[in-house]
Amino acid sequence: MIPNIAAFKTLIKDRVGLHFFNGMEGLLNTALLQRMSERGKESSEKYYEEICVSTVEFDKLLSLLTINETYFFREPEVLDFVCETLVPKLLEQRSGPVRILSAGCSSGEEAYSLAIKLHQKYHDQFAARVEIHGCDIDTKILAKARAANYSSYSFRGVDPLLQQTYFTRTGNQFQLHEVIRTKVTFHRSNIVKEQIQPKFDIILLRNVSIYFDDETRRLLHFNLLNILEPDGALFFGNAETLANNFGILKLKQEHGLFYFCQPKSSRAPAASASVPSAKVTRAIPAAAPCVVAPTLSTQQCDSLIKKALDCVAEKRFAQAEEWITKVLDCDVHHQEALVIKGAIALEKCEFGQTAQSAQHILERDEWSAEAKMLLGLAMMWQQHTEQAIAWFKQVVYQQPGYWPAHYYLAEMYRQSELYRPALRTYRIALQLLNAEMNSPGNACALRLPLSFPSNSFRFLCEHQLAQFTRQDGQ
Ligand SMILES: C[S@@+](CC[C@H](N)C(=O)[O-])C[C@H]1O[C@@H](n2cnc3c(N)ncnc32)[C@H](O)[C@@H]1O
Repeated sequence: MIPNIAAFKTLIKDRVGLHFFNGMEGLLNTALLQRMSERGKESSEKYYEEICVSTVEFDKLLSLLTINETYFFREPEVLDFVCETLVPKLLEQRSGPVRILSAGCSSGEEAYSLAIKLHQKYHDQFAARVEIHGCDIDTKILAKARAANYSSYSFRGVDPLLQQTYFTRTGNQFQLHEVIRTKVTFHRSNIVKEQIQPKFDIILLRNVSIYFDDETRRLLHFNLLNILEPDGALFFGNAETLANNFGILKLKQEHGLFYFCQPKSSRAPAASASVPSAKVTRAIPAAAPCVVAPTLSTQQCDSLIKKALDCVAEKRFAQAEEWITKVLDCDVHHQEALVIKGAIALEKCEFGQTAQSAQHILERDEWSAEAKMLLGLAMMWQQHTEQAIAWFKQVVYQQPGYWPAHYYLAEMYRQSELYRPALRTYRIALQLLNAEMNSPGNACALRLPLSFPSNSFRFLCEHQLAQFTRQDGQ
């Protein structure tokens, strides 16, 4: 390892936010050795001096460090929501243009996916009223974005008809048509620090903040306060959203999708304002405090919960309910007791009761994934497929590693004849199931007293996926 690697790490983090978590130091080391050799520098101290003063050399090093993984129509639900709901709403409200930013756009697939979707909806006229921008710190990848020439790797899961409509194939490369290419403007900007102006109505900042540490992400949020319009919406990638909930921007949920917007009171406070820390914690704290009536101590409460859980595991629901009632008599809002009560009601097909317990939890803790899972299951058993989808989507957002939510979401998609999302979601469920079975210690679990036997669910996923393959072959 290069002796002064720590100095490089600090410089890069300060300038562009990239943080080299322990496992990633090797990437930095390799990039440094490559650039030092290309520049004929034998000492890393000399090379450090060079990148401190030369932005050209800094950029060259940076191009070796950024992870540019992207593809067309990635996490398509957000793109659909932007183009089908947000843009039409904003266009109705105003005469000026709607401005969209794909931040950390890499080679441009995300920005162009939006342009294609808007072209499908509004034809060529959309350009007069919607501006699409892409920004990235990596100048090399921006050149690729502007050229808009892609290999098949960028088209994972893209409808072949759509690919034929908007791209011209030459050998193994696909050139995006001018009608779309000219609709997106790319520029080099550092989203952590630069106050890009004018402001944007919609910002997609997906799969970028995963390379930042908490400190940088907070800085980023303060910068975003200044870049996002008062009624604007900011999207992170599905798995990143909750790790970005610092309470600086306000987290909203619509149609099962999460995004951030400006807090009502302070539209754009100065960057020196104190940073509130409202990081989302697990829905049910490990030691959920119990407001105890004079007759019951916290230990007694915990012991009753344990007894209730044992009874549920043995399917002795009446006895479990007795223990739970005692806890709830002592603390009517006790989350774990409410979850158990909701789960027992679900087992007894008393779906109204399940929904009531879950709603009770959500009134006090809008982030309870357990309550949302209960609601999803209750809706599913009552054939309210759309509502079930909305709840399962929220669980998947909050707990992307929790396979039962993916599995049931896939089931609901299939029942709604949404076969592409169903196929995709079964695959994810199966991947997670396999990972869990190979390494049970890393399983993502909710505190729900419901059993989902992995073997049976794996069989069901495989069965459904085989059905899809068979249908495709016919
Ligand atoms: C994994 S790609 C994400 C591409 C796309 N947003 C997506 O979700 O498919 C991450 C991109 O973020 C860019 N990036 C990293 N730090 C940045 C910063 N401070 N400002 C702007 N872009 C940044 C990288 O250069 C890289 O191209």
